[in-house]
Amino acid sequence: MKVFNFSKLKLPVIQAPMAGGFNTPELASAVANSGGVGSFGFSFTSPEKIDETLDITKKLTNGFINANFFVFKPVRLPGKKVQDEAIKALSNLTLNEKFEINVPDKPFYYDLETQIESALKNLPSIITFHLGIPSLTIIEKIKSLGIKVGITATNIDEAQSIESVEADFIVAQGFEAGGHRGIFNQENVDEKLKLDNLLIKLLENVSIPVVAAGGIMEGKDIKRVIKIGALAVQLGTAFLTCDEAGTSKIHKHYLLNEQKRKTQITKAFSGRMARGINNKFIEEMNGKKFFPFPIQNTITIPLRRESQIKNNGEFINLWAGTNFNKVRKVSAQKLMKELGNEFKAEI
Ligand SMILES: Cc1cc2nc3c(=O)[nH]c(=O)nc-3n(C[C@H](O)[C@H](O)[C@H](O)COP(=O)(O)O)c2cc1C
Repeated sequence: MKVFNFSKLKLPVIQAPMAGGFNTPELASAVANSGGVGSFGFSFTSPEKIDETLDITKKLTNGFINANFFVFKPVRLPGKKVQDEAIKALSNLTLNEKFEINVPDKPFYYDLETQIESALKNLPSIITFHLGIPSLTIIEKIKSLGIKVGITATNIDEAQSIESVEADFIVAQGFEAGGHRGIFNQENVDEKLKLDNLLIKLLENVSIPVVAAGGIMEGKDIKRVIKIGALAVQLGTAFLTCDEAGTSKIHKHYLLNEQKRKTQITKAFSGRMARGINNKFIEEMNGKKFFPFPIQNTITIPLRRESQIKNNGEFINLWAGTNFNKVRKVSAQKLMKELGNEFKAEI
């Protein structure tokens, strides 16, 4: 295993972990081979598939690879009234076809420790966590193998708790970021801190390294946040339109051709706040009831699958950051090269 250190990066770029089929061995290895970090969002992936994916990736690169997981408390189904209203909201969508709405007896997700075991077998250089902090036992086990631990923060409190469990670094996720918002407790007031402001606050309050995420699309953005004090950047949206990304055709189409649309934060797809391109689903679900995460995520799978098959982007989670109109349709290697050139030109 290659022991990770920020100073070993040729370009301080982490390709973001993106759960939901976006990360592929080809994408992660191209980024790692270009001197950055290639990541996998494994939250919805079975332990067997995690093992297989990392094994394939190891054959494509000996660069830095990051495996990422969501951390959240077990949830229960809400009361009958909320369930009925949530089902009604989904049943009333203006779809041409009906989709099955199955409320699971219990929410479906994999056991975190078993998932992590699969990752550890393959010794990635980094393991990161999103939405919360894992147990100290998990953190100590990962670190004892020489693997670095990173955890997302969206405010000072979260960053300080991450520092207190002796994680190796923090991923500061600004409000601009695409995909799930990393806030630990959705019931708390969200300060909605934009990246630069968040970075400044975190750097004043913690002393472990900070990675900047949210809306970074060009070399000049990298330069800006490095100047503030970040040691690296994490880009999600910018990699979604790369040739090697597993992004669906329809999602890529919206990223590349629906650039007049705005992005919005919604809980309607998964039950947790996440930023995506505005579409009919987000609009029609506005103000409606839904199941908690990850039950809503499980329930909306058939709808999203059906929508995908029909090539209809209006009922799919089109995750994207606020600056998605700057995406490029290139290979990951080319994107890394262009970002590197822009970054150097800015120095
Ligand atoms: C499609 C998509 C899926 C994401 N899934 C994850 C995930 O599984 N784990 C995670 O830590 N962050 C996830 N994120 C958030 C990224 O780590 C990062 O915060 C975000 O992409 C940065 O903003 P940007 O998209 O504007 O670059 C996801 C982002 C996107 C766009």
